[in-house]
Formats: sequence, C-alpha cells, structure tokens
Amino acid sequence: MCGIIGYTGKSDAEPVLVEGLRHLEYRGYDSAGIAVLNEDKIKIHKSTGRVDTLADICKNSPLRGCTGIGHTRWATHGRASAANSHPHTNSSKTIAVVHNGIIENHTELRQFLADNGYKFVSETDSEVIPHLLDYHIKSGGDFKESFLKTVRELKGSFAISAVCRDAGDKILSARKGSPIVIGEGEGEMFVSSDIYSISDKTDVIYVLGDNEVAEISRDCVEFSDFDGNKITKTPSEIKHNSYLEEAGGYDHYMLKEIHEQPRILKSLLSGEKTLSDIKNTPFLAERVKRTDKIYLLGCGTAYNAAMTGGIVMRYLCPVNVCAVMASEFAGGFYDVDDKTLVIAVTQSGETADTLSAMDFAAKRGAVTVAITNTQYSRADTESDFAFYTRCGREVSVASTKAYTAQLAVLYSFGVFLCNCLGGDVKRAEEVREALLKVTADVHLSLGLEEEMKTLAGHYAGCRDIYYIGRGSDFVTATEGALKMKEITYIHSEAYPMGELKHGPIALIDRDTPVIAVDCHPDLHIKTESNLREVVTRGADAVCFCPDGITHNGVRCIHLPETHWITAPFSSVVPLQLLAYYTSVAKGCDVDKPRNLAKSVTVE
Ligand code: G6P
Repeated sequence: MCGIIGYTGKSDAEPVLVEGLRHLEYRGYDSAGIAVLNEDKIKIHKSTGRVDTLADICKNSPLRGCTGIGHTRWATHGRASAANSHPHTNSSKTIAVVHNGIIENHTELRQFLADNGYKFVSETDSEVIPHLLDYHIKSGGDFKESFLKTVRELKGSFAISAVCRDAGDKILSARKGSPIVIGEGEGEMFVSSDIYSISDKTDVIYVLGDNEVAEISRDCVEFSDFDGNKITKTPSEIKHNSYLEEAGGYDHYMLKEIHEQPRILKSLLSGEKTLSDIKNTPFLAERVKRTDKIYLLGCGTAYNAAMTGGIVMRYLCPVNVCAVMASEFAGGFYDVDDKTLVIAVTQSGETADTLSAMDFAAKRGAVTVAITNTQYSRADTESDFAFYTRCGREVSVASTKAYTAQLAVLYSFGVFLCNCLGGDVKRAEEVREALLKVTADVHLSLGLEEEMKTLAGHYAGCRDIYYIGRGSDFVTATEGALKMKEITYIHSEAYPMGELKHGPIALIDRDTPVIAVDCHPDLHIKTESNLREVVTRGADAVCFCPDGITHNGVRCIHLPETHWITAPFSSVVPLQLLAYYTSVAKGCDVDKPRNLAKSVTVE
C-alpha cells in the first residue's frame, strides 16, 4: 500500500524513478509523483491515475538530475488528487518527502505548524513531515539532525524518504513499521519499499529495521537509530528477480498466474519438499509439542486459505483449531497463551492487520509461524518460524497462485503437526497421498477454461451472484465470490449451503444466479435438496462437482475426481477463471481493480 522509490547515482534519476514506480504500482495506483534534485531546485511532477500518466508528463517535460524520490499512492487521508499525491514539500520547495503508512499525531502536528505560520496545501497526514523538517532546519539543525528530530516526533507507522536541496546527493530514509530497503550499486544507490522492484538493478540490499534511519549518498550508506547512534549492518544478497517480468503472452498477469499453478504446486508438493523444509526447521517440533490450540490468521484470500488450512488441521490434529480474520484477532476475543500456536498466512508478509495480530499473539507467549511469499518481510523476520510459498512474484492484485501455494504449505504443515501432536497417523497418510495427485487435478481443472469463458458471458450482466457450499466447499465458494467481486464489481456473496434458507434465500429469484461447489461425497444429497430450494425460486444454478454427479435442473460442471480433503486445490481453479473472464467481458481493469491494493499496510 503506497510505494516509495529513491535513486542517487551517476545517471538521470527520472527514468529510474518512473520505472521503479511501475514496479511498485501494485501497491497503490490512484496517483503518483516524483521529485528530482537539480542543483538549486527540486522539481516535481505529479499526476492522478496510473504511472503511465506520470510517464507521459515526464516525456513532455523531462526532469534532469541524478538524485530523486518517487511515490505511488493508495489514498487514506484525502482523496486521490494531484495536491494529495506525493512528494510533499515545504513552502519554499527546498525539501521533498514521500511517505508510506499513517502519521497518527498529524492533527496535533498540523496545529503546531499552523500556529508557527506553516500553510498546508493538501489534506494528507504526510504533509506535516516536510514542514516539520523545515521547522527544525530553520531552528538551526542540518538536514540529518532535523530529520532525526522529525522522525522522533512522529507517531504511527511509516516509511519515509526525503531529499533536501541543500544536502547534495543525499537521501534520508526512516522506517517504523512500513518496510524499506536500500540497494547498493556501483556508484549508485536505490531505495524502495519493496525488494523485488530493485532486484534487477542490484543484488546487494540492506533491509532497514524498525526505528532505523539510512543516510544514502551515491557512494555510501550509513545507518543509525532515531537518536543518531550508528548501527552496523551486513548486506544481504538477493537473486535477480525482475518484478516486471512480462505477462508471458497472456493478456493479463492474473491469467498467467492462474496457469502457473500446476508448476508451482508440483515444486511445492512433489517429493514433499515443503514438508522436509518444515521438518528440518530446528526446534520447531520441540516448540510446538505443548500446543493445545491453533489459530490460523489471514486477511482476504489469505484468510480463505487459513480457513481451509483450519479444516485440514482439525481433521488431523487432536487440539482446538480455529481460523480467525487477522483484523478480528487482536481485540482480545480469543484465548492466547504459551500453549497457543498462531499460524499467520500472508502473501506479502506486510499486511498490517496480520502483523498486529501476530504481535498480539507473540506478546502473550504464543509460538508464531508465518506462511509467506516474501522473504525478509516483517512476517518473515518477526515470526518464530517462517515457511515460504515460493510461487514467485504475484503481480495481479486478485490473488490466485499465492492462494493454492498457501494451501500446499498449510496441508504439509498440517501433516507435520499431526505427527508432532499425536494426531491420527492414518489420516495423515491419507492426506499425504491425496496431495500427490493435486498437481494433475489442477492441470485438469485448467481444461475448463473455454467453458468458463462462455459461462462468463452469461454472468457479465448480473447484479448479484450467490455462491454456496458446505465445509471446505464453502471456503472455496467464498474464495470464488471474493475473486468475482474484486475484479468484476458484481455483488457476489458466499453462504454455507445449509444457512441459505435461514435468511439469504429471501434474496433469491430468477435474477440471482447461484453457483454451488459440491465435492464432498457425503454431502451430495444435501446439496441436491439445497439446490432444489433455489431452483424452485427461479434461480439459474450451476454446480461444480466431481464427474458422475448430477443435480436435477442444474447445470453440473465436472471437476476431476479427487479426495474431498484436497478438492479445494482443483475446485477453486474454474472459479478463478470464471471471475477472470467475467471481468474481461465487462471490460474491467483485471490486474488493478478499483479501490484495492496488493499489500495493505494500514489497519
Ligand atoms: C489485500 C489484497 C488481497 C489479499 C489481502 C491479504 O486485501 O487485495 O488480495 O488477499 O490483502 O494480503 P496478504 O499479503 O497478507 O496475503
């Protein structure tokens, strides 16, 4: 959510910043801006909308200079407008600042600055930063001293980068909560809120820790705490992993990522690589053996993965298992102590709700395990143990491959926990065997693509769609409905099939299509009667079920024959495709849906 980029070196900063912003656009895309230092001036270009618009402005009026910062925004304080977009400056435009996160005491600071004659031009919380910096410089501090004073006075979570006309090629960056990394090149340095976005520029990076400041010039970087005490940091090496990999011949990243799933699952599941990663983690078995309850946490798609993981762990482990939305966890409604295992599922590893839930659990003595796609993310570094979903960069905001990769790790972890906690060994073996078939099943499900394309034409004109299922099929229905609403803006809701008649059925008529998921062999009969209830009310119903199953008056779309426990892998695929093709049919922006961001770093 919001992206920061910075460059100081021997080349022109503008193209590096604009390219960097394209890499970061997934973090927020309602406005963008850059500031470039040119001897006696800081020059700024800003635009609402996409980075492409900013790039056009830069093409018509290039900014020259070798040091600069940039930002792509997802509006929190103040609507998406040029005035609210970053960089923000002091009145004389000698200081420019970009900021991610939220300044919680911005109202007090704004008042203090206004009382001291400062005028504000935006509605943002971020604008207090350049003015406060200006105030401290005018009170006699140099750029660095004033920056340190400023960050000490800010409350909330933030990543900040700042340049100053009078400080040469210097960029100062600070982190409290929101991530920021420094990339070191030859005679050039990069700053970014995201490792991947600079991974094609350098393979040497420093991850800024909480309450740390980086002072960057083209030839060196120094680190300190907020009081200016020096900190020694060792760089990490990263593998080249350009974020801006092409969509590989697909029309959208989402479609490419849906098609990547069999390959990713093969590498995560065959040879039980993930399971051996988990087993080889020192002390893990020892740390979890006292566990008497497990909470699985996540947001959005990651929460849906956590729900399915919860079903698997309940099937395997003799302890209480509960999936909770991360944003609901820290309110004190759940019992957490040193016998609690908390499994946080997060693709980005940065989701604020998930991180604060993890923190809440850690403070109460729980063992925390992160399942994440992002090495060095806060979820990775702040958890007791972390396992990676290794599915490569997910560019589309609507998550697909990360979801099934999260399932793969959760199932493997479930088998591991079953063994550690004295669970049902026969069931563990059953799950393990079923997992071996998952890759082939997902591949077969992709064979439904043409059928989903045709079906999508039918849904594109709908106002509401209801998804129903029971148990893990309900979770799949929930994920299908989430995909549909995220990228088509059609109101799509999932209900546990049996619950539909207790209220929501009042909404069913001939204009409300129903999509059912029915993969559990013991539940086909119940599904049949629930489907009858909606069909008799005029609904057009479609059911995703295994080959050989039929339902009266309902179009059945047949999925590969599979064990019910692993059905969530292959049954979600046609629902992903259905949402994708409905979005295409409606002419929506598939990869960057309105109002959403790929990583949400505010609570
Ligand atoms: C946002 C995204 C969702 C994602 C959720 C959790 O809401 O739009 O697609 O599922 O965050 O993200 P995480 O990175 O924690 O998995």
